[in-house]
Formats: sequence, C-alpha cells, structure tokens
Amino acid sequence: MVVFVLGHLFIMHYQHVPASTGAAFVGRRWAGAAWRAFDWVLLALALSHGVAGAHAVLRERVRGPRARTVLDGAAVAGATIFAALGTLAVAAGSRAAGGSPGPLSVHAWIPAALLGGLLALATLTYLALLGVAAAAAAYVLRRFPAGRWSYPGQWAFALNRIAGLGVLGFLLLHVADVAMVPFAPDLYDRTVAGYALPYLAPMEILLVTAVVYHALNGLRLMALEALDRRAARAHVLSFAVVVVVTALLVIPSVVVLLQGRP
Ligand code: HEM
Repeated sequence: MVVFVLGHLFIMHYQHVPASTGAAFVGRRWAGAAWRAFDWVLLALALSHGVAGAHAVLRERVRGPRARTVLDGAAVAGATIFAALGTLAVAAGSRAAGGSPGPLSVHAWIPAALLGGLLALATLTYLALLGVAAAAAAYVLRRFPAGRWSYPGQWAFALNRIAGLGVLGFLLLHVADVAMVPFAPDLYDRTVAGYALPYLAPMEILLVTAVVYHALNGLRLMALEALDRRAARAHVLSFAVVVVVTALLVIPSVVVLLQGRP
C-alpha cells in the first residue's frame, strides 16, 4: 500500500497541482489499462484499510451491542458503496473526455455539493490542527507535566489517528468526485477547478503531510514490532526521525503547489 499511496501522492502533488488535473488529464491516464489497474488497487487497499481503521476507532467508543451492530453494518455498507462507485469509474474510465457533457451532466448540484464537502473537511482539518497546537502549547506552558502526553508515543499515536481519519475523509470525497469523470466530465472539471480556492490550499498541504506522516509512522511501528524494540529510546528517536523526514518530504510539494496554482 505504501508504494501505491505514495506513488499516487507523487504524481498528483509533486508532478502536478491537483487543481490542474481535470477530466482530460484523468482520461489520458486512464486510456492505459495499467494506470486503471494501479488506481483500482490503490482504491481497494486504501478504502479497506481506512474503513477498517475508522471502524476500529469508533468501536472503541460505542459499547452497546445494538449500536455496534449498526456500526458494523454502516462500515460494510459505506465500504461497499464507495468501492462500487470507484470501480464503476475506473472500469468506464476510457470514456472520459475533458470538458464535454456526459449522461450525469444535468445534475449541476453535484460540484456544489462536493465543494461544500471539501470546505467542511478543510474546516474540520483546521480545527483539528488548532486543537493539536493548543494541546502542545498547554503542555509546554505547564512545563512538560508528567502524566498524559508526557510520552512522545502518545503524540505519535494521536497524530497517526488524526492523519488516518482525515485521509479517509478526503478519500471518500475524492472517490465521489472521480466517479464523475466518465459520466459528467464537465462537472468534474468544475469541481477540480474549485480546488484552487485559497481556503483549500492549507488543507492540500496538510493532506500531503498527513499521508506522508501516516505512511512513515506506520512503517516505523511495523519496524519496531518486527525488530522487537520496546525501549523508550528507540520509540522517541524513531518518532523524531519520522517528524523530520515528513517535514522535509512535504516541502517540495508546497513549492509545486505555490508555483503551479492556476
Ligand atoms: C500509506 C500506507 C499506510 C500505512 C503504512 C498505514 C499504516 C497503519 C498502521 C500501522 C496503523 C495502525 C496504527 C496503530 O495500531 O496504532 C494504521 C491505522 C489507520 N490507518 Fe493507516 N496506513 C496507511 C495508509 C492509510 C490510508 C491511505 C488511510 C485512509 C484512507 C489510512 C487510515 C487509517 C486509519 C483510519 C487507522 C486507524 C487509526 C487508529 O487506530 O488509531 N491509512 N495505519
């Protein structure tokens, strides 16, 4: 999954600017079966892992057996609907043509709904960032009190969880917008053009940061487990390395985003 997720991120956020990847761009990519297979495998891996992760997070909170059954059903239904939507788009992909109308083009409300979803997700992301910054500031101002948050592993865990849930939120919206490529390329172009809104630019940077951090932190956890390194020193050092490498890897995408915005 690391190869597929980071490969996709590289193409969309380091080689191109998302706001310039309209239906013509996707159509050119999907003209080849290999890229369609790549995108479908990415969808299957990211969706199943992300929904399973969010399901596990919510199941920790939900205690009653009936509520848990509802949650299980919602996870299966959600994953099935989005998997079907994405599969349909990838399978029909070669019909995509930039700018021209398709059978769903009469539904002009779709781009407005998707952009509304993106704006809501961006607002949630900024609130989450403010929450993390406020928690870190309070921790420093109280001179690093012992107890909750005194161990870097707790910060690594919280950031990993926020990043995983945020990326899943974006993935669901993204599957819904890409599904328009074969059926309403003109509406897809309108949605993608909305990515250029200045309000969404910090979210794009945070999305890249979340993906890179979550992937590196996941690899870190797997490596520590495989190497059987339980020592606090190994955890702290590896967390510091993940934070620094994430920051360094995000910088080029910020440069691309700032230089390439239409
Ligand atoms: C790029 C490759 C990825 C790797 C290596 C990876 C790795 C991991 C690992 C190791 C965990 C368990 C963390 C723990 O037990 O504390 C996890 C949890 C999770 N991941 Fe990923 N992941 C990746 C991509 C993604 C993507 C693309 C999404 C969203 C679509 C996602 C969403 C989640 C969620 C929601 C959780 C649950 C968080 C929690 O339990 O605290 N991950 N991931």
